[in-house]
This record gives sequence, C-alpha cells and structure tokens, in this order.
Amino acid sequence: MSNNLSRFGVAMPQDLVKKFDKYLTKKGYSNRSEALRDLARRVVLESEQSDLNKVVAGTIVIIYDHHQNNVVSKIMNLQHDYHEEIISTMHIHLTHAECLEVLVVRGKKKRLVDLHEIVEAQKGVTYSELSVTFIDNSEDEE
Ligand code: NI
Repeated sequence: MSNNLSRFGVAMPQDLVKKFDKYLTKKGYSNRSEALRDLARRVVLESEQSDLNKVVAGTIVIIYDHHQNNVVSKIMNLQHDYHEEIISTMHIHLTHAECLEVLVVRGKKKRLVDLHEIVEAQKGVTYSELSVTFIDNSEDEE
C-alpha cells in the first residue's frame, strides 16, 4: 500500500451514510475509504476525458428547500447569469418545502459544468444533476 495516503474527515447526513453503507455492502466494498477512492477516481477520469469546449445539450435537475435562506434568489440570479445557456425552465412545487427545477441547457460543456457546480454548492440544494450529450460538431461555437 502507498505510504502517501491523505486522511480527511467527511461529514454526511446520517441517512445518506446509511444508504451509502448499504450500497457498499451490495457492491462488495470492505470499507468506506475504498469506495470513496473509486468514486473520486471515476469523477476525475470523467471530467478529464470529456471535451469541455464542445457544445452539448441536456438538462440540469435541481431539488432545493425554498425555506432555506436566499436559495430561491440565488438560483434565480444564477439563471440570469447563464441566460444564454438556459433555453427553458420548469418549476414544480414538490412538497411543502421542496422545489424541483429542470433547466434545459445548451452550450459549451465547460459553462454548463460550471453552472452545475455552483448550483450544487448552494445551501438548501439537496440534489442536483447535470445530464448532457454532445450535439452536432458542425454547430460548435468558437
Ligand atoms: Ni417551488
């Protein structure tokens, strides 16, 4: 085993840890570190492999608690910052507290990844997923 392993503490909601542990058991992992290493390698590899300058189209799905301070206006402001990439939005009031928002997006993958990362980091956002596919190369923007 490598002697230059870094250790760090991870804080997670209890119910997420429970579900994560179930996943680990199902996948045959013997501990959380091993599983987290694999997940980290996968996301790093995915982001390195993808061509961030290509034009893609897809969706960003967001679930957030609208009671959380400022989250509604932050998400609204963000959408205006990215108005060139966001083609359409849909807002569904899922429960008393939770909102589901679907953004239909088109643009350079780099811009969409940036937008997704900012959305994901907002307090009150409990879920966010970017799903895109490359579109016709001939339409690539320079
Ligand atoms: Ni709502």
